[in-house]
Amino acid sequence: MPGTCVIGLQWGDEAKGKLVDLLADRKNVEIVVRYQGGANAGHTVVIGDDTYKLHHIPSGILTDGVMNVIAPGVVMHPGTILEEIDGLVQRGIDVPGQLLISDRVHLVFPWHIAEDRAVNAGEVIGESIGTTLRGIGPCYRDKYGRMTAIRMGDLYSGNLAERIEQVVQWKRKTLAGFSEFVEESELDAEAIFAEYQDYAKRLEPMVGDTTEYLLNATDSGRNLLFEGAQGSLLDIDHGTFPFVTSSNSSGVGISGGSGVPAKWIGRVYGVAKAYTTRVGGGPFPTELHDEVGKTIRNLGNEYGTTTGRPRRCGWFDGVAVRYTVRLGGIHGLAVMMMDVISQLPEIKICVAYEIDGERTGCFPSQVDDLRRVQPIYETLPGWEQDVSGVRTMEELPDGARRFLDRVSEIVGCPVAIVSVGPDRAQTIIADDLLR
Ligand code: GDP
Ligand code: IMO
Ligand code: MG
Repeated sequence: MPGTCVIGLQWGDEAKGKLVDLLADRKNVEIVVRYQGGANAGHTVVIGDDTYKLHHIPSGILTDGVMNVIAPGVVMHPGTILEEIDGLVQRGIDVPGQLLISDRVHLVFPWHIAEDRAVNAGEVIGESIGTTLRGIGPCYRDKYGRMTAIRMGDLYSGNLAERIEQVVQWKRKTLAGFSEFVEESELDAEAIFAEYQDYAKRLEPMVGDTTEYLLNATDSGRNLLFEGAQGSLLDIDHGTFPFVTSSNSSGVGISGGSGVPAKWIGRVYGVAKAYTTRVGGGPFPTELHDEVGKTIRNLGNEYGTTTGRPRRCGWFDGVAVRYTVRLGGIHGLAVMMMDVISQLPEIKICVAYEIDGERTGCFPSQVDDLRRVQPIYETLPGWEQDVSGVRTMEELPDGARRFLDRVSEIVGCPVAIVSVGPDRAQTIIADDLLR
């Protein structure tokens, strides 16, 4: 049975966590797989009075009996995942019985966080990316560089102390010019060894070969759900480089990060807000610098789950989402935060860009071009009604349905799900396959 996938179509925080939780609960999903990114992700799930914030652990953990797999494409900070595990266990969730972590995942070490701080300061290397400072870029850089990387499996290899000492020697040399960004403890090989040895002991019951596990699962026809982190526009290869994250966060990353062959990648749901947000640096054509932008931020509570930073807010960008829908091979759109735009007197959708006087529907490959585009908007009258209690498409106000139809037409994909509030229950399922 081919797997179902959930990926973000914008710059992250589209409410993927809500959707994965919802589908895990509804679709007889047996295994949820997280396949890229790391603790830069912050996925919020609201179930009744309970709110959960997840960074590494797939949102399937909140559904009884669902197995959750963290696949090789993820970079993991062991201290952070242990905090997450402890928090969930305290709330009565059987994490050890429901979580399998690949021994191939690459580990984030204190020196990665120091490197992230140094590069992100932007003084040496140009405009700051505004990363989450979770060591993501430096850890992936070491992975691709190979010689200074340490994976989960290495924690159990018997020569961890020696390995850490070697890498620390290397890092001392490469970070020599950046002492103002590095704390002595971040290069203290002995203390780091002791810390990571302790993490290793605690994580060991959950560590294994997830590639073999998932290949066996597909052989026996088990029902998989893939959970993307970040958003397609933050994809290292296809996003707004260099203002991206360091993994393939669009649909192209699913097979590579999980080890599951593409023939098992089935229906892909793309998640987008009814407007756009972005955290960190980089161009954002439909960004609003006025009161409307502030209103959206307040209504949508647009502050980062991981860093608490205010999110930049703007109108729905149909050019960008059409691009990411095509890139991700998206079957159905999940349009989130409809309750938020339902409070606005007027709503705009960007339907095309103008660049050097020419109208285009193409999303530029170069950030300097993206910085120069002028969004062309279509304006729709607002419907100014509370939709948070609506559960079917038919009950939505006409204006809201017109907005969804127009979005679907512009991006070239049917609307499968509409979200009208943070709670799992505040959802309209329009796709028959999901009922
Ligand atoms: P993710 O990283 O893609 O999982 O998204 P985040 O969890 O970082 O951000 C989405 C935020 O929106 C969370 O706080 C959710 O609880 C909230 N949310 C999800 N769907 C809706 C919705 O339809 N309306 C409103 N108002 N909030 C929502
Ligand atoms: P979820 O999974 C929104 C952004 C950062 C920064 C850029 C690079 O919750 O949607 P990094 O720390 O990855 O090197 O930062 O990417 N970013 C996110 N923005 N949601 C996320 O994850 C993000 N993860 C990274 O703000 O601009
Ligand atoms: Mg998030």
